[in-house]
Amino acid sequence: MDSKIGMTLTRHIYEGERVHPEATGELTGILNQIALAAKIVSREVRKAGLAEILGFTGQRNVQGEEVRKLDQFANDVFMTAFSHLGHFCIMASEEVDKPIPMPVDGRPDGGRYSVVFDPLDGSSNIDANVGVGSIFAVHHKISPGRDGTITDLLQPGRRLAAAGYVVYGSSTMLVLSTGHGVHAFTLDPSVGEFLQSHHHIRIRERGTIYSANEGNYPYWSQGVRRFVSHMKQHDPTTGRPYSSRYIGSMVADIHRTLLYGGIFMYPADSKDPKKPHGKLRLLYECSPIAFLLEQAGGAASDGHRPILDIQPTEVHQRTPFFAGSVENVREVETFIARYDAVRA
Ligand code: AHG
Ligand code: MN
Ligand code: MN
Repeated sequence: MDSKIGMTLTRHIYEGERVHPEATGELTGILNQIALAAKIVSREVRKAGLAEILGFTGQRNVQGEEVRKLDQFANDVFMTAFSHLGHFCIMASEEVDKPIPMPVDGRPDGGRYSVVFDPLDGSSNIDANVGVGSIFAVHHKISPGRDGTITDLLQPGRRLAAAGYVVYGSSTMLVLSTGHGVHAFTLDPSVGEFLQSHHHIRIRERGTIYSANEGNYPYWSQGVRRFVSHMKQHDPTTGRPYSSRYIGSMVADIHRTLLYGGIFMYPADSKDPKKPHGKLRLLYECSPIAFLLEQAGGAASDGHRPILDIQPTEVHQRTPFFAGSVENVREVETFIARYDAVRA
């Protein structure tokens, strides 16, 4: 008898581990801890207008961006949630300059995983009550010895053990994959439990929605500009012009792209010489999202190659990002190959 409670996140992970013997109970513990952190951040996001949690802290982070109180709060919640779990040997956050080694707590052996995360994505939207998110990526420890090193963080997305995001939108939804498809869980605040709302999400092969900050149009490469103009041409036989949707919180834009199809883009631009590869960070924004999209039958590219094949060299390195339906992503790669004489 299937109780009305439905498939909880905990039961889903546990059943996943029984089916995949290579998994260990650790992943259950990790994902449940992420769910706990998501519930706590969700509670604060939902009352952000009331608590003294809006606005700025007056500090700037390693990215040179002004830190908002909710960025800091979310960062503290995720760091605390991960710090004493015993499964992680090292972690890194968008909000912290250097990697954070884990407290050993006298444990006989260090953790067997590393984690990188963007505690609050889309924070410029917080004060306007627009959807924001959190992003996480979990790798296996690969360095020798007990303690974690930067090697355990700087791994290509192809090797991820688990990745996902939380979108704090009209509802709070946790979307994740452990390499066996993409599943979504919606928080039922009345019981404080994530209940499965989507099973094996698949993204359509081609979509007719594109998502980009067109204010950067003058700074994009020739190939990207031609691709965007192509999508805006009148040609009913190919469903063009496409619709344009841009929220400005990548998690929200990606969530819509995953469910409705199309392409999300944050291309390289020539606006800021210090950021020649665009704004989004590889390790804790683009790699985890690319992992989910490929698990859902989609694609994610830097314009030339799959994001998941990029070998990271720095924790906060940035990359151009084109992600969504596989045909739309292949199409922008064709425009870039044809019109961008010099590779980005
Ligand atoms: P974060 O809030 O973690 O710094 O990320 C914001 C990112 C991403 O969420 C979004 O796609 C992008 O910034 C929007 O940038 P623009 O405002 O330049 O379009
Ligand atoms: Mn972000
Ligand atoms: Mn962020």
